[in-house]
Amino acid sequence: MLRFDQVFFYYQKRQPVIDHISFSIEEGEFVAIVGANGCGKSTLAQLMDGLLLPRGGRVTYRGLDTANPAELAMIREQIGFVFQNPENQFITASVLDEIIFGLENIRVPREEMRARADQALRAVRMEGYEDAAPHQLSGGQKQKVAIAAVLAMRPRIIIFDEATSMLDPQGRKEMLSIMHELHRQGMTIIHITHHMEEALSALRLLLIHQGRLEYDGDPAAFFDTMAVADYELELPFAVRLHRTLAPQAQLSADWKEMLRSQWSMN
Ligand SMILES: Nc1ncnc2c1ncn2[C@@H]1O[C@H](COP(=O)(O)OP(=O)(O)OP(=O)(O)O)[C@@H](O)[C@H]1O
Ligand SMILES: [Mg+2]
Repeated sequence: MLRFDQVFFYYQKRQPVIDHISFSIEEGEFVAIVGANGCGKSTLAQLMDGLLLPRGGRVTYRGLDTANPAELAMIREQIGFVFQNPENQFITASVLDEIIFGLENIRVPREEMRARADQALRAVRMEGYEDAAPHQLSGGQKQKVAIAAVLAMRPRIIIFDEATSMLDPQGRKEMLSIMHELHRQGMTIIHITHHMEEALSALRLLLIHQGRLEYDGDPAAFFDTMAVADYELELPFAVRLHRTLAPQAQLSADWKEMLRSQWSMN
């Protein structure tokens, strides 16, 4: 569905950031993208919805090409973004206006706007905050409103670019449970993160290293088989614990299920 075909990208010539990467992400996947600082994760994310265009190769979404301006608008409507810094996501004076603003941009009929906003706020458990001023919300609440604003536009994919990294553990847990809930409802989730616990909860993990796709597969198998320190990553706590308890064994299906269930709503 979302397809990278030999994608090549640099900001400065002779310094490729994305070096001929190919992969595709199907509808309904939950993919974590990990890698060292500056390895190109955000660049990759921006290539996905045409905020950046490949210098070589092609990025297509459902057959539409990001390099084709006529098709790019259609791609953009289907891919939502939530960024790292909750402070930078807002431009209006109330939570409701923030959501409406996004809907105006994609020309949603006025009479439909309120229903969409209400539904989106319910999905992130922020109903009742319509009139709140975004800048007075906590970091976690801001990120939930940012998700609601994206949801109201009814995308098929949401890309979270380190959207949990400025939150406290409780805020992160809540964000993750929302992501998993949206995934259960059929949304495609792409989660760029430095938190390996969160990466472990995904169904598929992509590792970017020196411009290449170094790993693409099951997250638990990644931590079982790869020397993660070589990529400036840490083992998730659960994996370290498991190794202490059962040094020879790989993570079993039971463990994987247990690890995933910790992010579901309670
Ligand atoms: N606008 C830009 N102009 C020039 N170089 C850039 C630009 N944006 C990013 N870079 C460089 O491209 C490389 C990849 O950056 P990118 O932001 O994609 O990495 P990242 O994996 O998202 O990093 P982080 O984990 O810190 O968010 C880095 O070396 C960065 O310095
Ligand atoms: Mg980044």
